[in-house]
Amino acid sequence: MTVSIQDIQAEDVVPFRIAVDRVAREGRFLASNEAPSLDAVARFVSTNLEFGYPHVVALVDGALVGWCDITPEGRPLKRHVGLLGIGVLEPWRRRGVGAALLDAALARATAAGFLRIELSVRTDNHAAIALYRKRGFVEEGVKRMAIRVPDGFGDVLMMAYLSPALA
Ligand SMILES: CC(C)(COP(=O)(O)OP(=O)(O)OC[C@H]1O[C@@H](n2cnc3c(N)ncnc32)[C@H](O)[C@@H]1OP(=O)(O)O)[C@@H](O)C(=O)NCCC(=O)NCCS
Repeated sequence: MTVSIQDIQAEDVVPFRIAVDRVAREGRFLASNEAPSLDAVARFVSTNLEFGYPHVVALVDGALVGWCDITPEGRPLKRHVGLLGIGVLEPWRRRGVGAALLDAALARATAAGFLRIELSVRTDNHAAIALYRKRGFVEEGVKRMAIRVPDGFGDVLMMAYLSPALA
C-alpha cells in the first residue's frame, strides 16, 4: 500500500465529503451522523484553499481514504487558535495513515502561525485520544453530557497542542 499525503485540491471536494459522510455515519466518532451539504463542504474547502489553512488528504491509488484539517476558531482574540478535524476510512485504520495526516497538518499549522491547536473528542474514542497524546496534545478538561448518543449522553474531552514555536 502506498499512501500519499497531499494538500486537498478543489477536485477532492466530492470524495472528501463522501469520506466525512462514511465516518460520520459510523455514529461513534464525529459530532454529526452525516456530512454537511455539498455546498457547505465546497465552501469549507474553498476557504481553506484561499487562505492556506492546513487541509491534507490521504490518497491510496488516487482514492481519498482520510483527511485532516486545521481551521481558525475565528473570533478576533482567537486568531492564533486552530480547530482540528481528522478521519480515516475504516478499512485503512491502524496502518499509520492517521499519524501521517496529523503530522502533515501540524507542520503546516505551525508554518502558518497557529500557536494553539485544539479539538474535542468523545471520551470513549480511545484510538483518537491515544494518537493525540502521542503527538503532544494535552487533556484540558471534560465536558459532561456534551453530546447525545443512542443510549443517552456522552462526555467530550477537550485537548490542545501548543506550537513548538512557543518553546
Ligand atoms: C483516530 C484515527 C484518525 C486514527 O487513524 P489511524 O490511521 O487508525 O491511526 P494510526 O494507524 O496512524 O495510529 C497512530 C497511533 O494512534 C493510536 N491508535 C490508533 N488506533 C488505535 C486503536 N484502535 N487503539 C488504540 N490506539 C490506537 C496508536 O497510538 C497508534 O500508534 P501505534 O500504531 O504506534 O500504536 C482513526 O481511528 C479514525 O479515523 N477514527 C474515526 C474518526 C475519528 O475518531 N476522528 C477523530 C474525532 S475527534
